[in-house]
Amino acid sequence: MSDFEDKLQNAIANPQNQGEMSDADSVGTVGNPECGDMVRMWLKFGEKDGKKIIDKASFQSFGCQTAIAVASMATEMLKGKTIDEAQALSSTDLSAPLGPLPPMKIHCGEMVEGALRDALNGDQSEPTVAPATGIPNTLLGDMNQPKMKSGKLRVVLEGQRSEEVK
Ligand code: FES
Repeated sequence: MSDFEDKLQNAIANPQNQGEMSDADSVGTVGNPECGDMVRMWLKFGEKDGKKIIDKASFQSFGCQTAIAVASMATEMLKGKTIDEAQALSSTDLSAPLGPLPPMKIHCGEMVEGALRDALNGDQSEPTVAPATGIPNTLLGDMNQPKMKSGKLRVVLEGQRSEEVK
């Protein structure tokens, strides 16, 4: 087993800070249409020495083990960081405890960074329950929502076609 695989297995054996945070101040979500995975991150802010800091962070992710491992490590790493310090963290920083990610897994770390940025920059008052539907605004809820596909539909009726032919 490679060093990366070894660290990955250790991280996902006991992921930290997994699950929705009911008293979060902010939430961020990012998805990758190519692999179909999503990561959502919740942040709770506090104050230390007059500065706004991240008091705690949690995440949800379905599918990819690397994203779960990076998100677990990132949510631990974020505790006590100021907003500026958190903004400065790259996906490489967040996944550093795993070591360099294999090329096929680099986007997994970038998804975690994306969820963090969305939570840091996003709507601080996003509800945890979608008001119109009452559907819990969870990652699983999002994934179960039917997706509307945009595009044009062309309907050809037999009668019209035969008229055009005439
Ligand atoms: Fe897409 Fe890991 S394979 S997030």
